[in-house]
Amino acid sequence: MSRSGSSHDLRRLDLATAHLDAPFAIVDMAAFRANAAAMTRRAGGKPIRLASKSVRCRYLIEQVLALDGFRGVLAYTLPEALWLAACDTSDDIVVAYPTADRTSLARLACDATAATSIAVMVDCPDHLDLIDKARASVSDPHQVRVAIDIDAGYEALGGRFRAGARRSPIRSPADAVGLANAILGRPGLRLVGLMAYESQIAGVGDNPPGRPLYARAVRTMQRRSAAELARRRAAIVAAIRKLTSLEFVNGGGTGSLEGTSAEAAVTEIGAGSGLYHPTLFDAYRGFTGQPAAMFALPVVRRPGPGVVTALGGGYLASGPGTPSRVPSPYLPAGFRLDKEEGAGEVQTPLVGPAADGLRIGDRVWMRHAKAGELCERFNDLHLVEGEAVAATVPTYRGEGQTFL
Ligand SMILES: Cc1ncc(COP(=O)(O)O)c(C=O)c1O
Repeated sequence: MSRSGSSHDLRRLDLATAHLDAPFAIVDMAAFRANAAAMTRRAGGKPIRLASKSVRCRYLIEQVLALDGFRGVLAYTLPEALWLAACDTSDDIVVAYPTADRTSLARLACDATAATSIAVMVDCPDHLDLIDKARASVSDPHQVRVAIDIDAGYEALGGRFRAGARRSPIRSPADAVGLANAILGRPGLRLVGLMAYESQIAGVGDNPPGRPLYARAVRTMQRRSAAELARRRAAIVAAIRKLTSLEFVNGGGTGSLEGTSAEAAVTEIGAGSGLYHPTLFDAYRGFTGQPAAMFALPVVRRPGPGVVTALGGGYLASGPGTPSRVPSPYLPAGFRLDKEEGAGEVQTPLVGPAADGLRIGDRVWMRHAKAGELCERFNDLHLVEGEAVAATVPTYRGEGQTFL
């Protein structure tokens, strides 16, 4: 069974949102702030570049960027980065994933503010060609800031075992030097940074519930991977710094803040999920965040004893399609999803002892498995301070901005 909240929180959240009709989403701001502070502590003095995909609400992104310990945005698409720069949310934006969007690249090249505020990610000569072509399509193009994405995955058994996201083909110092030289040879491009995201550590919990053998395998893999990556990352950074100066070397994520920030070669961590603390981040031994983002569903049916049915709720998280990606009942405590129906498109049955105490129109509180994706389901986030909604702010979707 997943983690449940306290009856005190249930009373408080119900009271704060009594005037709202569910479904709706909230952020519990005390938890959000505590999570931000904990992330900063865990980063050990290195700045956190805020992974905007894990927040997807401009108001909250701006709140976090105003805190000590957070600096700059790790955006997820170039249109998003252009929008954030135009909104003055940040003048230090790194797009973490490569783009093939010619229109946006052309907009980047011809907008002075965007061109100085944004760096785009590259990992092959084709990316460089796309940028050069976009520059050639506008008059008086600006230099485009680029960063190299480095594969931080873990490989063993001669490459037969691999853990970590399939990202960049750039893996060795020689690979990185080759691409860096290609960038340095193009006057329209400026190499400003490196990024190496170890998803197999930062995004994989080392304490998965009810899976002790798998947990042991994960810990072994993570220990070996962290040691291998620290050596490789340092060698790559040293090799590139011989060619040019770098503004940043980005690594890590919410699940690896301590470890990644301890590497001398890394200058900043990219992280965001820890702010909302979705359920996937319950599965770590090293830290315990506070659930901050939740959604409320209305009870609309009582099919029988021990079960209530809520409207909607099928907000599955992206990824491998495993049960870990399904949203989890949070309050009242002790609810579980029905095995047959799970979290459904139009209805979600909830089974548990609390069911018989709920009436039509009451609500159940749920947590998403991932962080920012929840915001693709709602136009607004209600920001709860104690026993009241202090403000209601739009998500990216609420501002008409749906990037992925
Ligand atoms: C490049 C990169 N850095 C960092 C992160 C970590 O983000 P978070 O801490 O929000 O999970 C991610 C997540 O996918 C990522 O893709």
